[in-house]
Formats: sequence, structure tokens, C-alpha cells
Amino acid sequence: MADPRRVAILISGRGSNMRALVGQAAGYEVVLVASNKPHAPGLDWARAQGLPTWAWDSKSVDREIFDAALGKAIDEHGAGTIALAGYMRMLSPAFVERFAGRMVNIHPSLLPRYRGLDTHARALAAGDKVSGCTVHLVTAELDAGAILAQTEVPIEPEDAPATLEQRILAAEHLLYPRALGDFVSS
Ligand code: GAR
Repeated sequence: MADPRRVAILISGRGSNMRALVGQAAGYEVVLVASNKPHAPGLDWARAQGLPTWAWDSKSVDREIFDAALGKAIDEHGAGTIALAGYMRMLSPAFVERFAGRMVNIHPSLLPRYRGLDTHARALAAGDKVSGCTVHLVTAELDAGAILAQTEVPIEPEDAPATLEQRILAAEHLLYPRALGDFVSS
């Protein structure tokens, strides 16, 4: 069994949570940054830090084949924990099963409210006074695994989705490194 303190981060985009996980790493080490988008801006940053990266464009590949290659890269780097950080692609059941109990995600809402996409617009449309972010275990059901940590963030009367997103993102960057450190040592 690979060391749980060796972490692979999966990204699809800018990777601001990845940067927070790398910059605030305590109790774990980031050994791989992997992406389903070869041009994800976060990959450039990871490479500039000297971190090992892996990428393959998932558009043209069967999900099972892509996930098998991703799993192989994770194994080859000896990662025992997987942290999804803005990884916007459904994982195959076989991949989820293979890494069950060792894979976490950050989601921009107070789960179980607002699984899936457009969480900020949905919180505003519902008239919520508070939203936030959640770190949870990844299971086969989308955004439904056990909750590991949450931060509440107030919603201001003048908020639009973009302003709420920025406030919650700042909370994500503090919550995720702490929650991941706790997770790998539990
Ligand atoms: C973050 O807000 C993260 O919580 C969200 O995507 C953003 C990625 O930003 N994840 C999801 O919605 C997953 N369902 P980042 O690339 O700057 O970390």
C-alpha cells in the first residue's frame, strides 16, 4: 500500500486550490499533478515548481482507458492519496473503487446542499444567507461521500455569483490544506 502522505493532485483548470495545497503542505508531500486537460493553466505552474506532471486530453479517450492510464501514473509516483482540486470530469466506477477511502475532493458549497455545478448561483437564487465549502471523500455518487471538513462563508446582500465565488475560494484555500493534512494522518 502506497504511503498516504504521498499525494497526487488532479486538476482541470487554473489550479488555485492545487497551489494552496502545495504552498501550505504540512504532513503530506505532493508527488504528482495530473490533468485531463493538457493546457490547464495549473499544469504550467506545477511544472515551474519542478513538480512531476501527467496529462492526457480526455476528450478523445474512452473513460475506462483514460482512468486506467491515470491510475498507472498515480501508482508509478507512489501516491497513496488523491486530492481532486477542480477536477471537472466524472471518474469511472472502477477508478473510484480502486482508490476508495483514499480520494478526497473540495466542493464550493455546504454539502449536502448543491451537489454538482453552479453552486453559487443556486445558493443566491435560494436566498441563502450562508454558503461555504466542503472537503469530502469521493465515492461513486457525485459529491455525496463522507464530509471531512467544512467552512461557512457569509452571503452578502449585494453578492453576485462571481463575488461569492471569490469569497468562498479564499476559504477553500485555507480549508483544503488543513483538511488534507488531517486526512492523511488519520
Ligand atoms: C473550486 O472552487 C472548486 O471547489 C471547484 O472548482 C473550483 C476549482 O478552482 N470544484 C468543483 O466544483 C468540483 N465539483 P481551482 O482550479 O482554482 O482550484
